[in-house]
Amino acid sequence: APHKVAVIVGSLRQGSINEQLARALAKLALPAMELTIVPIADLPLYNPDIDGSTPAADAFRAAVGAADAVLFVTPEYNRSIPAPMKNALDWGSRPYGEACLAGKPAASIGASPGAVGTAAAQQQMRAVMTVLDMQVLGQPEVYIQFKEGLVDPEFNITNEGTKAFLTGFLGRFAGWIRQQGLR
Ligand code: FNR
Repeated sequence: APHKVAVIVGSLRQGSINEQLARALAKLALPAMELTIVPIADLPLYNPDIDGSTPAADAFRAAVGAADAVLFVTPEYNRSIPAPMKNALDWGSRPYGEACLAGKPAASIGASPGAVGTAAAQQQMRAVMTVLDMQVLGQPEVYIQFKEGLVDPEFNITNEGTKAFLTGFLGRFAGWIRQQGLR
């Protein structure tokens, strides 16, 4: 059976380049992995006072909990993790001791129009993922400088080099998920 991967996109924007990248990867990943975007737009700002009475959080935690692994696809905001993504990580980190993210094999990637391709945000993602006890894929690092037209309207990657690189990444990630599952 294909690995079930929950995909969390750190942008809430219509037409997000990171969502385009996530959808292109979902197409490329088949049949080895089934990538499904788990929405985070309805999660309120994390507040322990409303934890336990927030249906959007219950749905988010159930979707992540049911997955074999998690793929984060995030923009970089001000050289850091965008607030919606950090908020999702915070919801996913609780209840303490029963966090839906804990123990899951995981990778974090991202796209930016800038040359650094989200590398600064990715370093911070790795720090948070590690403290949440996720099994973080070390390599390859995926920092995509997104040029107009890189993903076509049918979510195909139009640049052959980038497509080959992302196919290689997905292969490594699938192997990592399999390896973690054997532990
Ligand atoms: C950005 N952007 C940006 N890009 C980058 O490479 N490094 C950065 O630190 C920032 N900082 C930043 C802050 C804020 C508040 C915004 C709105 C944007 C640009 C960003 O990469 C660009 O808007 C992408 O298109 C965002 O990704 P999505 O939403 O298209 O997936």
